[in-house]
Amino acid sequence: MAGPARLCVTNQKGGVGKTTVAVNLAGALNELGHDVLFVDLDPQGNATEGLGLLEAYDAEPPSLLDALIDPTGVSPEDIVYSHAEMDVVVSNIDMNAAASALAQESGPETRLATLLDGIDGDYDYVVVDCPPHLGVLTDNALYATENIVIPALTEPTSKRSLELLFDYVGSLEMEHDLEIEPIALVANRIETTGEDEAMLAWFEEALPDVPIFRVRKRVALQRAFTAGTSVFEADEEIDMAEVFIDVAEQVEESMTDTEVLA
Ligand SMILES: Nc1ncnc2c1ncn2[C@@H]1O[C@H](COP(=O)(O)OP(=O)(O)OP(=O)(O)O)[C@@H](O)[C@H]1O
Ligand SMILES: [Mg+2]
Repeated sequence: MAGPARLCVTNQKGGVGKTTVAVNLAGALNELGHDVLFVDLDPQGNATEGLGLLEAYDAEPPSLLDALIDPTGVSPEDIVYSHAEMDVVVSNIDMNAAASALAQESGPETRLATLLDGIDGDYDYVVVDCPPHLGVLTDNALYATENIVIPALTEPTSKRSLELLFDYVGSLEMEHDLEIEPIALVANRIETTGEDEAMLAWFEEALPDVPIFRVRKRVALQRAFTAGTSVFEADEEIDMAEVFIDVAEQVEESMTDTEVLA
C-alpha cells in the first residue's frame, strides 16, 4: 500500500512563518477529512508549544533526538502526542544537540525517513516544520518528504533567502539523487503596500511554476497559536482560514501523483 504523502515547510530564514503555515496547513488538511501526522523538527519547539504540548518539550528521554539516532528503536508512544486536530511528533530540548549527535552517525540525513517509515503508515499526510537554518535537520526533512511548502515574507530579503534555498535543495537533489518538488509558496504577513505588491510580482516571475498563496498580516493567527490550535479550532472566525484551505487543496492536488507512484 502507498504510504502517506509527506511534505515539509521550510525556509532557512527565521521568522517568516514556517510554524504558522505548517500548523495551519496541517489543520486545513484535517478539516478536509485527512489524518495528519505533524513533526516538529525545530529544536526551538515552537510548533510543539503552538499545539499546546509544551510540557512534552521537557519530557525525559527517549525524545525525538533518540528516535533520530536509533529510528527503529524508539516506540511511537514516546514521541507521538495527541492533539484535537492531528497527532504530533514533538520537539524536545535535547534536539539542540542534534547537529553534533547526528554527525557521528552514518547517513545522518536519512534518519527521519527511516523513523517515518516505521510510524506514519496510518496517516494520509505528514507535515514537517523545519528549523530556521540549513544543516542536518533540514536535510532530514527534505530527504524524508521530497515536497516543500515555502513561506516567505513580502520583503526584499526574501529574494536572497529563496535563491539560497533553491541552490541548497538543488545540491541535495544531486547528492542523493532526489527530486524535491516545490508544492506552494505562501507569501506571508502581507500588508497592502506597494512594496508588498512588487514582491508578489517578483515571486510570480521568479517561480512561474509554483502556485503562490497570500496570507495577510493578522494578529488572530498569533491568538490561535497562543490557544494551542490551528485557526480551524479557534474561538473566533479568522478570514485567513480559507487561504490555508486553498493551500491544503493544492497539496491534495499536487501530491496525489506522488501517493500513487510511491
Ligand atoms: N500572517 C501573519 N500575521 C501576523 N503574525 C504572523 C503571521 N505569520 C506569522 N506571524 C507571527 O510571526 C512570528 C513568526 O512566525 P513563525 O513562528 O510562524 O515563523 P517561523 O518561520 O516558524 O520562525 P522560526 O524561523 O523561528 O522557526 C510569530 O509570532 C507568528 O505568530
Ligand atoms: Mg518556526
